[in-house]
Amino acid sequence: MKTGVCYYPEHWPEERWARDAAQMREMGLSVIRIGEFAWSRLETRDGSLHLDWLQRAIDTLHAEGLSVVLGTPTATPPRWMLDKYPDMLAVDADGRIRDFGSRRHYCFSHEAYLAECRRIVEILAKRFGEHPAIIAWQTDNEYGCHSTSISYSEHALAAFRRWCETRYGDIDSLNTAWGNVFWSMEYDSFEQIGLPVGNVTESNPSHQLAFWRFSSDQIVRFNRAQCDIIREHSPGRDVVHNFMGNFVEFDHHDVSKDLDVATWDNYPLGFLTRDNGDAGDQERYLRTGHPDGSAFHHDLYRGCCNGRWWVMEQQPGPVNWAPYNPAPVAGMVRLWGWEAFAHGAELMSYFRWRQAPFAQEHTHTGLLLSNGDTDVAAREVAELNRELADVASFSVDDLRRNDNPDVEPGQTAATDSSVTNSTERVLSALPVHSKIAIIFSYAGNAIQDIQLPGGSTYSPLGFCQRVHSACRQWGANVDILSPDASLDGYSLILVCSSTEDDPDLVARLQSAHQQQGCVIALFPGTGSRSGEYRIPDALPPGHYAQLLPVQIIRSESVPSQEVLTATGSNGRSRHCSQWREEVRSSIEPRMRFADDWGFHYEQHGVHYINAIPDSPSLIAMMGELLQDAGIAGRDLGPWLRTQRIGPYRLAFNFGPRPVELDKELGSTLDFHHDTPLLVGSRTLDQAQVAVWVAE
Ligand code: GAL
Repeated sequence: MKTGVCYYPEHWPEERWARDAAQMREMGLSVIRIGEFAWSRLETRDGSLHLDWLQRAIDTLHAEGLSVVLGTPTATPPRWMLDKYPDMLAVDADGRIRDFGSRRHYCFSHEAYLAECRRIVEILAKRFGEHPAIIAWQTDNEYGCHSTSISYSEHALAAFRRWCETRYGDIDSLNTAWGNVFWSMEYDSFEQIGLPVGNVTESNPSHQLAFWRFSSDQIVRFNRAQCDIIREHSPGRDVVHNFMGNFVEFDHHDVSKDLDVATWDNYPLGFLTRDNGDAGDQERYLRTGHPDGSAFHHDLYRGCCNGRWWVMEQQPGPVNWAPYNPAPVAGMVRLWGWEAFAHGAELMSYFRWRQAPFAQEHTHTGLLLSNGDTDVAAREVAELNRELADVASFSVDDLRRNDNPDVEPGQTAATDSSVTNSTERVLSALPVHSKIAIIFSYAGNAIQDIQLPGGSTYSPLGFCQRVHSACRQWGANVDILSPDASLDGYSLILVCSSTEDDPDLVARLQSAHQQQGCVIALFPGTGSRSGEYRIPDALPPGHYAQLLPVQIIRSESVPSQEVLTATGSNGRSRHCSQWREEVRSSIEPRMRFADDWGFHYEQHGVHYINAIPDSPSLIAMMGELLQDAGIAGRDLGPWLRTQRIGPYRLAFNFGPRPVELDKELGSTLDFHHDTPLLVGSRTLDQAQVAVWVAE
């Protein structure tokens, strides 16, 4: 794994650039992202281009041996663009124009703005496409950030009507698909269709889902236009985009089909304080982030571009945008780096090089203070880079357990430069092998978001994260897959957001089950709606009933403090809340709730889990599923996490107290009393990392 940083040469005097570049190299950084917000300096007025400064900036970085990821500047159209196209701005749900004065002020459906983007991207790609420093291009910046996936502009309306025409062909088919006979919502022509906003009460969920799909497709189209131009003029370079955390407003799997690498922007503390509604989590993980928060996204984005993924922006210290912006505990920046390595990142790039003394993000930390002195994160990043280089230089074969008499338990091995596991290409990573797959569907997630079946406290994405977290607590590697990904080689497949009844996925699950004997678990809502938001004719779970004979005849939601306990004949119980389904089945359930509704149906290794378990119950159930699937695991508790990558296994302590690895891991998870550590010690303090060679 390489490390890098996001750099804004246009923010600093040119005389400083060479010193910055030299200092980046000294810190061990090698990949520098630049340019993504620089349009007003690249084209000061319409057609008035100034590319020489960017050339000099790239040359300066190149002179230090640094590689460059060049961002296209389309997230920040300059002010003159608005004089040219006053109607290019997006419109929010209240009909307000999302005006100039920050960023992302454009509507994805504005054709003339898209043409301007094509023009500037072509200019940049032609000029810099074959520069030897450039290894990749980033398209735009964080599609959808600041709620910009959706626009209710006139341009969006016109484009949506055309999109509907293409999808449904004639208006009667649309009326039938959406069930518009309900409340006399039928249209006579596509020109009558409005956007699902501003209705007296909620808009038709079919209409909302169609608009979600349309908005996602507009982003795919916008992104593809840039990718095509870059590929034409900059052969051999990766094309990437930086996705966000906890963000599901468009289908990232669809956008990723046009990318070489999925990258994402990781702000663990910001995400915790902004997005995690659990007060206990907020307190416990304030300065470390949730132990599975980064891991979930690493695993999710690893599934987007055939395993290739980067962290494009990594939190270095307090940020500026969450309700609270705490400083990470000492060591955390280094830990996040090792964690990304463990999940297969090719690149860990920090945001940003130097704190800006001006504008919206002037309280956002960087690797340097605004005066240019080094900040805490810079020291941790330099340490990480030294350790990464060390580990890459160890001979893995010599370090297998018991093979190296010179290495005492707990002692770091001597360097052997004869064998190296470091990357060969500019960017590549070791393989991550997982026996567990979670299938994540963005459209399925949208279906649940549109009409929350689990009540107002239920979050479909949040539940999927809890399922992932429960697997992680057993020490397992997890892949998160798109619904059309290959299921080969998995022993346990968890389906927790595939609300859309998807016969193709069902057929592939069936063959994975028959041929690999894998265990499958389906969670509430699976297959409960057609792609047009109708209940399947045969009732939920639709085609999934081919996997086991269950039929959902009722679904209820209750407040999260309402605990529903299911008990089995063996006296064991599980606690659930939020959402529960009543199942009709020839299978005897493993447990029953007090009112006799069954809970947890299983036949030949296919499970239907028809309620939302609380965390202890979910973790216990996951332990059983792992065991059924023959996956070794050990309950690591809330703080300790581990991940296997290539020949290595790593352990991370997110908790406030030291962890004894010998006690917590016993002789499991590739760890034994005589396992030598490459990094760290057997007593793992808070925010500390251990690395060893796995079996
Ligand atoms: C990201 C964004 C960056 C910067 C950063 C601050 O969302 O891509 O440009 O704003 O947040 O944390």
